[in-house]
Amino acid sequence: MIPLMKSTFLNEYETKNALAEFIIRSDRLSMGTKCGEFEKKFAKFQKVKHAALFNSGGSANLAILQALKNLGRLREGDKVGFSALTWSTNIMPILQMGLIPVPIDCTPRTLNVMSPNLLERIKEIELKAFFITNALGFTGDLEEIQNICHANEIILIEDNCESLGTELPSGKAGNFGIAASSSFFVAHHMSTIEGGMAHTNDDELDEMLRIVRANGWDRNLTSEQQYKWRRKYSIQNEFEAKYTFYDLGYNLRPTEITGFLGINQLRLLEENIKIRQNNFLLLEKGVLQNPDLIPFDHSHITVFSSFSFPILCKTPELRDRYLGQFSGAGVEIRPMIAGNILRQPFYAKYVGENYELPGTDFIHNCGFYCGNYPELTDVDLETLSSCLKKYV
Ligand SMILES: Cc1ncc(COP(=O)(O)O)c(C=O)c1O
Repeated sequence: MIPLMKSTFLNEYETKNALAEFIIRSDRLSMGTKCGEFEKKFAKFQKVKHAALFNSGGSANLAILQALKNLGRLREGDKVGFSALTWSTNIMPILQMGLIPVPIDCTPRTLNVMSPNLLERIKEIELKAFFITNALGFTGDLEEIQNICHANEIILIEDNCESLGTELPSGKAGNFGIAASSSFFVAHHMSTIEGGMAHTNDDELDEMLRIVRANGWDRNLTSEQQYKWRRKYSIQNEFEAKYTFYDLGYNLRPTEITGFLGINQLRLLEENIKIRQNNFLLLEKGVLQNPDLIPFDHSHITVFSSFSFPILCKTPELRDRYLGQFSGAGVEIRPMIAGNILRQPFYAKYVGENYELPGTDFIHNCGFYCGNYPELTDVDLETLSSCLKKYV
């Protein structure tokens, strides 16, 4: 059996022991210094000014949109583009915020929205923002997408939950828009069990993200920021300030366990990414030799932080055969994320509006993926390579 993942953490045994000891000797486990330390270390890794830790990647997505709304940069009824191949909690907050979702088609060879896909859509529809998903360790041509967004005054936001560590010539995935999210759910590039990050270089947005994360209050702001809010609303003293709520928020806070695990697993991230990339390049050789399969184009990516190993067949019939080949060899497989998200029940219930999305439909009908992670053994890699051999 080759499962989608083999462990909760890298260095599982040592990490669990260290975690147990951390819990026993800690006086406080609600959000505190470990979370702050992880935020600083993650911001350094990501090469951004601010990083705010959340209890999940989905929460980070929700908070980014709520924060942009609280700041008046997005308003109810604004049209927000999104990658049609994505995860549920990328698009769901668009609906929850009263924004109008506009799907952008994805290109099968890169699994992502490419600049021509975006240009095609904005010919007919004026977008206020584009919440792009960097899918499965890949990205689109983000430099060009960023230029288009600047030229058309579109706020670019990146859901980087599946592409942590991927780099393009002009920077890391996640650093092309106003803000981005990461996920630390088990089976992502690094695990804090559950967890996520919202990162940005925008001071005002980071401040609002911290208000949104914790009930709408100011407790997690700097003293200068607190002074500003308290003066604006004539809050007289600390007693009153404790239960003053300035804007719309939730409770999306992580715990010190999240912070502790984040610091621990971040140390292993670079090495983890290298092994994932090497595994991908090895397995890709099998794809290049199999005329039933479509190879992916990652020539625009300099560091490829593979999330999983995606397989794209030339027809749905061929996919059925390869699904059988992989399952028969005991390999755990999944659809290509949520496929064309317009085909999901929740989308039909709340939106319904249809768009032609030929690229995403092709990925939906012809794609699937299996796991790719550092614990894959040589025998596992041989099994996967044999599953990629032409079906006879
Ligand atoms: C693209 C994308 N966005 C958001 C999420 C949500 O992350 P989380 O599970 O940490 O809430 C995921 C989860 O797999 C994802 O793949």
